[in-house]
Amino acid sequence: MKIGILTSGGDCPGLNAVIRAIVLKGTSAYDIEFVGIRDGWRGVVEGDFFPLTRHEVKGLSKVGGTILGTSRTNPYEGDRGGAENIAKTLYGHRIDGIVAIGGEGTLAAADRLSKDGIKVVGVPKTIDNDLRATDYSFGFDTAVNIATDAMDRLRTTGDSHQRCMVAEVMGRHVGWIALHSGIASGAHVICIPEVPLSITEIAALVTSAHDRGRAPLVVVSEGFKLKGMEEAYSDKGLDAFNRPRLGGIGDLLAPEIERITGVETRATILGHIQRGGSPSAFDRVLATRLGLHAADALVSEAWGHMVALRGTDIVRVPFSDALGELNTVPLYRYEEAAALFG
Ligand code: F6P
Repeated sequence: MKIGILTSGGDCPGLNAVIRAIVLKGTSAYDIEFVGIRDGWRGVVEGDFFPLTRHEVKGLSKVGGTILGTSRTNPYEGDRGGAENIAKTLYGHRIDGIVAIGGEGTLAAADRLSKDGIKVVGVPKTIDNDLRATDYSFGFDTAVNIATDAMDRLRTTGDSHQRCMVAEVMGRHVGWIALHSGIASGAHVICIPEVPLSITEIAALVTSAHDRGRAPLVVVSEGFKLKGMEEAYSDKGLDAFNRPRLGGIGDLLAPEIERITGVETRATILGHIQRGGSPSAFDRVLATRLGLHAADALVSEAWGHMVALRGTDIVRVPFSDALGELNTVPLYRYEEAAALFG
């Protein structure tokens, strides 16, 4: 059996650990031959492959990024030819099937290709932890650790100057990174897309923390929208206060918090630092286990399925289970954290 492996969508710590585990188990236990596919679906569409042996994956579990490269190419868009073109390319290189490691968009393409006859096994990946078919996705724990470390640092400088510190973390649609890093770092306010708050509510929590002698820490997901001002976000040029858009929501909140509370406030946007560097031990183990089970799924010909974490077990689920609704933060989880705001 000859299998191509690709990584697609935004990168994520742990991708290399998955690739390593698939290749190690696939070659030693099942005698599978592997090729790496460069830059996600682009590499499949263009036939950009290279041999992937035990040698190429040596020592990779601790290495961030992806040795395969990644892109957000959709094989069905433009003149890429969809499943027909991919089938032709794979046949030409005598490749029997693909392991696609990616998030929602990647798995949606994998699902469609699979229905169109391409043999695909999936591995879920996202630092946002927003895929509902898996309890946790690798990359998330690393991102939370990076964000927590950054907030611990923001707190000491905030304390020294008696400033309010606003930290913006990733999470376009869901607030898992903000929730977990906010709890871990003892934030006084956590703002997530699932729970709209008004600037008045945020300012009241900041004032209360300040009055208790604390340097207030506000953690905000990039996808958070202020209550009552949602329409303002549809205007591309202006922010919710009719000013030219500066950047992220953190930059929007900081001056308003300062204006209302009188507490000097600074914003930090953590950005792609959360996705870079070495995976945490938890993510290395999770990614490795997913890779090992993906190799098993190949020999079982479990096409159209992805491997996923349920409780402490790795299971196989159909692609369709991972699509549609996102894994959002339930209200009770937010309320647990809010009980600590004071
Ligand atoms: O989906 C993961 C994610 O990290 C989001 O949290 C973030 O909004 C996005 O990717 C950033 O994407 P890009 O790297 O394309 O700017």
